[in-house]
Amino acid sequence: MVRLQKYLADCGVASRRGSEEIIKSGRVAVNGETVAEMGVKVEEDRDVVTVDGEEVRPARKLVYIMLNKPAGFVTTVSDDKERDTVMDLVSDIPDRIYPVGRLDYETEGLLLLTNDGDLTYRITHPKNNVEKTYIAEVTGKIDMQTITRLRNGVVVDGRRTAPAEVSVLGATQLGTKIEITIHEGRNRQVRKMFEATGCIVKRLKRTREAGLALGHLPLGKWRRLSESEVNMLKKIGTGKVSSREKSHDMYGEKAAKRRRPAQARPKKKPRYSGNGIKKTHR
Ligand code: URA
Repeated sequence: MVRLQKYLADCGVASRRGSEEIIKSGRVAVNGETVAEMGVKVEEDRDVVTVDGEEVRPARKLVYIMLNKPAGFVTTVSDDKERDTVMDLVSDIPDRIYPVGRLDYETEGLLLLTNDGDLTYRITHPKNNVEKTYIAEVTGKIDMQTITRLRNGVVVDGRRTAPAEVSVLGATQLGTKIEITIHEGRNRQVRKMFEATGCIVKRLKRTREAGLALGHLPLGKWRRLSESEVNMLKKIGTGKVSSREKSHDMYGEKAAKRRRPAQARPKKKPRYSGNGIKKTHR
């Protein structure tokens, strides 16, 4: 609940002092009843406030958050099974935000939350092919043939996945650590892609999405996106920059290579050792 004069000021009607004068002059109504005295409080999403018969509403503050989601949280606003939700991790944010897309219950990593419906639509719409990078720890050793299959696309739920970028980062106690970048957002896609090749994902973490990188954000913590990060996201779907270019422009080695004049650009493709581990050129 907020005092009426503050509500009017938040709507840009006048300053708080000026709004008091407007109230006193009998020009303001709450839910159809004229209010001409001070002390009335209103609730933003429930009460209808008018000035001279015209409804006024405060400009909504748009909020953009990046969370490092731990495993064991559902990516929903509420859960009928009473499991912990990602909203529990951002409860200190007063604004009504919601997750952009989904990460599985067991998946960790980069999750965006916002109250900007337009941006949510653009990031999640399949037509925009927004790039997402994951680090997967999978059982067993992965051979070059499996890497090639994942890169070219495997059949998941009766449909072949789009080409992906895949590289082996190394061996772990659980098996093999692999980085995979996909341009789709199908349900449990990464897990199902590995399953299609006979591998089980033991741990999955999203490290990048739409050109944003998780960086060193601690597990379970959130941060606000910078203005330039938000501006970059707002270009998605406008045809100005593709999400693929954005990602590389901000963080990737590939971008540095692309910015060089054409004749100076190295022609070599990345080399892979027998076990598919990426080797540097020099
Ligand atoms: N792919 C998955 O399998 N799980 C996720 O949470 C995200 C992508």
